[in-house]
This record gives sequence, structure tokens and C-alpha cells, in this order.
Amino acid sequence: MDKFLIKGPNRLNGSISIGGAKNAVLPLMTACIIHPGKYILNNVPILRDTITMAKLLEMVGAQVEIYKNSFLINTKNCNKPYAPYDLVSTMRASFYVLGPFMSRFKEAQVSLPGGCAWGPRPVDFHIKALEKMGAQINLTDGYIKASGRLKGTNIIFDKSSVGATGNIMMAAVNAKGTTKIENSALEPEIDCLMNFLNTMGANINRDSNNNIIIKGESKFRDNFEFDVIPDRIEAGTFMIATAMCKGKVKLNNVNPNHLSIVIDKLIQSGSNIVINNNSLTIESKNRPKPVDIDTLIYPGYPTDLQAQWMALMSIANGSSKIIDNIYTDRFTHIAELERLGANISLNSNIATINGVKSLKGAQVMSTDIRASASLVIAGLFADKDTEISRIYHIDRGYENIENKFSKLGAKITRIKK
Ligand code: UD1
Repeated sequence: MDKFLIKGPNRLNGSISIGGAKNAVLPLMTACIIHPGKYILNNVPILRDTITMAKLLEMVGAQVEIYKNSFLINTKNCNKPYAPYDLVSTMRASFYVLGPFMSRFKEAQVSLPGGCAWGPRPVDFHIKALEKMGAQINLTDGYIKASGRLKGTNIIFDKSSVGATGNIMMAAVNAKGTTKIENSALEPEIDCLMNFLNTMGANINRDSNNNIIIKGESKFRDNFEFDVIPDRIEAGTFMIATAMCKGKVKLNNVNPNHLSIVIDKLIQSGSNIVINNNSLTIESKNRPKPVDIDTLIYPGYPTDLQAQWMALMSIANGSSKIIDNIYTDRFTHIAELERLGANISLNSNIATINGVKSLKGAQVMSTDIRASASLVIAGLFADKDTEISRIYHIDRGYENIENKFSKLGAKITRIKK
């Protein structure tokens, strides 16, 4: 298993390009199954997760060719609506095949994802919504087996869910009649999926209350190109890293509108940020001021940047609080940040971080994608050597993170094992 060796402290300077959004491209890839065709996705990040999704599509009968950051996906011969435990358990987003399978084949056999590193992550909203659309569903042997011609209906999610909104949108484009999703997710990745499906020929829009209205039985196109939106979580990670290590960094290929709350929080914490259309520059000169966050659905502060914010607050000039309202158990990074010298206490889903002046390198372990990112950031700031093991987690969500940080002047090397 590869490791990162970081020699700190580092200051970050220069410019890099942010890749396409992992959480946008994964459902786009499964959406290609809906209608037999040849689709080109551009600005695709080459990640463990996008490669895993390519493998899953190939198991279903698709062909996936990769040219640099473009995926050419041919779904003409897909014939097997099945997603096995081996793949779904390594990447929960594999569950995004459920909606497309029901759309195209009117049947699906998909492994239930189970828990994840930081606790339970149920899929009950997906299942109840499909049942309401008329699917017959059996949960046996760890699999969901679904079948039936779907009918449009009114779906009201108890909580706004990115995955359930995406899956039901993809299921509904071929259903009989109109589906309305109330309390739908507002994340930019969902709007990206909506744009992709509409480009494919679907008829989806949001009403004035942000409910998603999907007219079924679409007539689809079978050949087009589509650009994936920039990854707001990757961009936020590099911004927080700059705030922590100090320096001046320009990020190209970003959508600043998707980062509003993160920009606000970083400005409150003392960074200067200059925004252009598709780029932004962050400059940080001083020790960060303490700023509280609580994670919320979009446009609130994203849970996927909670661990990175905690790394930043661990060296703030005072105490701050972080509340994770989306995943109340998502705190495995605390014990690892403490190994580097952070002072953090946790009460239920509320972490109190007492900022310290310095961190000192140590051996630490990645536990999930974003927790790993927080360790990289903290390791870049810390004095002396930090060794991060199990970095396959970070490879799931960040393309060549060490090359990008090296380009900004950081001393970070991958040790291959
Ligand atoms: C997506 C993102 C993930 C991000 C999360 C929240 C992808 C591939 N992953 O995950 O990176 O952290 O959004 O922004 O896009 N819930 C239920 N029942 C369900 C579904 C969800 O109770 O059937 C709950 C979850 O436990 C959680 C909340 O709803 O508390 C939101 O989860 P959801 O938006 O569905 O997250 P994912 O789509 O799995």
C-alpha cells in the first residue's frame, strides 16, 4: 500500500487546475446506461472511483475507452442489470446504477452498500421512492432485486439526499407520466446530472419551490459530448491548504459560485480571495482566526470539507466549533490530527477545537477520502516529517494530489509499496 511522505513546514505558491467533480461524473457515467448510445464525457478526473465505475459499466456490457480526461462510453450492448457486492462495497456510488437499470431494463439486482468508515449510510429513500413508483422490490441475500414498469408519482424525501434524488431522476426519465421530487437535493452535482439528462433528451426542470419535475417516456439522443463541472471539494481542499500553510495560490477551472460558503468562511478566517469567472486566487499571510462551521445541505457548508476545515482550525488563534449535521459520526480524523498535536474534543456531533501554534509530523493513517485530505493539509503545515499510510483512500477522490501540491512548492512524495 502506497504512503505519502511529507516534509514540513511548507508554504504554497503558484497555480494549478482543478479537475472535474467526482460526485458529478459518477452518476453521469451510470446515466449513460439509460439509453443505448455513445457518449463522451470530458473533464473526467482519473481516480480510483471513476475507474471502478468504468469496471462496473463494463460488467453491465458497456465499453469504456479513456483518452486523457475524456471517457468514451458505449452502452449499446448493455444487457446485464447487475451490480455485485465486490464493487458496491468498495464504492457506494455504484448504487447509482439502480435508477438507470430500472429505466432501461425494468429490472435490477444491486448489492446493498452496507455501512461506511464513519457509520451507517442507509438507502431507504431510494427504495421507498422506487416502490412508490410501482417497482416490486425484494431485499434478499444483501441485494435489492427490483422489477416493474415505473409510473410517475409524487416523491417527498424526509431529508434532502443527493444519491436518492439522482437515482430517482434517472429512474423517472423513462417512467409513464410525470414524477415530482419534493425536498430534492440542491447540490450542483444534481444540476449537472439534470443538464446531462436533458441533453440526452429528458424533460426535467425545477419549479419555483425547487421541486424537480420529470416528464417520463423521453425520446433520447444516442450520441453527444458533455463537460463535467469542476470539483468544488477539490478546490475547497486546496484553498484550505493555502490558508493553513500560507502563500498565494491561483486555482483554474473552478466555479466560484459553487464555493460561496467556503469563500465566506475563509475570508472570515483572514484569507484574501480574488474571484474571476473560472478561477480564483487565495492569499493567506497570518495565523487563521477561529471560525465555526456546521455542515448543511447545499448551499450550506459541505460535509466533504469538514475534516479539512478541522485541520485548519487546529492551528487557529483561538477555539472554534464544528458541527456535522449530515454525517453525525464523521470524525475519524480527530484521533489522527491529535497525533500531529491538535487539541480537539468531541461531544456527539460537535467538535471543539482549541487552536495550537504548531503541529509536529508523525505517522498517521487515512480512514476515508476527506479525512485523508485533512491529514495531507495538516502534514504540509507540520514541522518535520509526516508519513500518511493507506492513501488509497485519497486516490479515490483526488487526481494526483501530490503532483498538484508539488507544483505549488510542497515537499510531498509517494512511496510505492
Ligand atoms: C453524497 C456524496 C458524498 C457527500 C454526501 C452529502 C456522492 C457520490 N457522494 O453522498 O460525498 O458526503 O452526498 O453531501 O455524491 N440518507 C438516508 N436514507 C437514504 C439516503 C440518505 O437516511 O436513503 C441520509 C444520509 O444518511 C445522510 C443524508 O441523508 O444523513 C444525506 O445523504 P446523501 O445526500 O444521500 O449522501 P450520498 O448521496 O450518499
